[in-house]
Amino acid sequence: MSLPVAVFASGSGSNLQAILDYHAGLDAPPWRVELVVSDQEDAKVLQRGRHAAIRARFLPAAGRSSGDVAGETLDLLRSSEIGFVALAGYLRLIPAPVVAAFRERMVNIHPALLPAFGGKGMYGMRVHEAVLAAGATVTGPTVHFVDEEYDRGPIIAQWPVPVRAGDDPHTLATRVLRVEHLLYPRVVDQFGRALARGCRPAPFSPPGTAFLAHSRATVDLERAISAGFAARTGAAAHGNGERT
Ligand code: GAR
Repeated sequence: MSLPVAVFASGSGSNLQAILDYHAGLDAPPWRVELVVSDQEDAKVLQRGRHAAIRARFLPAAGRSSGDVAGETLDLLRSSEIGFVALAGYLRLIPAPVVAAFRERMVNIHPALLPAFGGKGMYGMRVHEAVLAAGATVTGPTVHFVDEEYDRGPIIAQWPVPVRAGDDPHTLATRVLRVEHLLYPRVVDQFGRALARGCRPAPFSPPGTAFLAHSRATVDLERAISAGFAARTGAAAHGNGERT
C-alpha cells in the first residue's frame, strides 16, 4: 500500500503536474498523489487533478472562520488517510490545528531564497518583482516545512538561480519555475519514500550539483540542467505534462 499524498494549490498547478509526471516515471513508488485541494473553485489545478483521475476538491476558505476551514481540511485529509501534504502555490495560511496534525509532514515551495522575499502577501509575480526591485543577483526556489506563519518553517532545500541583466518579472518567474519543476518532485519523492517507511526524511540535496541547503552559491541554471542534474536523474524523461 503506497503512502497517500495531498497537494494544495490555488492556481495553475504546474508544480502538481511536474510531481505527477515525475511519479509516472518511477518504478513502483511507495507514494501516490491521492488528493488535490484548492481554495479556488475554477483553479486549473483541480482540472489537472481530475484529468489524472485524482480526487480533486474545492475547499473554500474566503470569508470563513479559521476553525471551520481547519475542521473541514482535517476531515478531508483523514478521510483520504493522507500521510504527507505538499503546498504548491497555495495562497492561504494553513490553520494551526492542521499544521499541528501534519508537523514535519507538510512542505511548501516558495519562488525565492527564504528568508528573503517571503511572508504574507509575497506570492507569485510579487516575489519576482521584489527580487528585481531589490537588485538581487541570485534568487531561486525554497522548499520548507510549513509552520503557523507564512514562509517561515525550517528550510529543506534551496536552488540558487541567477538573475540576469534585462530580466523582467516574467522572464525571472519562468526561469525559477523551471527549477521548481526539477526540485519539488524530487523532494516530494524523498519525503514520500521516507514517510512510507516510517522514517524521518533527511534534508534534501539534488544530485549532480554543487548545491547545499542554505548555500548562496550561484549555480548556472542552463549548465546545471543540461550537463548535470537533468541528465543524471532522467528529468527530461519526466517532462511530458503541460505545466504552464
Ligand atoms: C510557484 O512559483 C510557487 O513557488 C509559488 O506559486 C507558484 C505556483 O505555480 N508559490 C508561492 O508564491 C507561495 N508563497 P503553479 O501553480 O504553476 O505550480
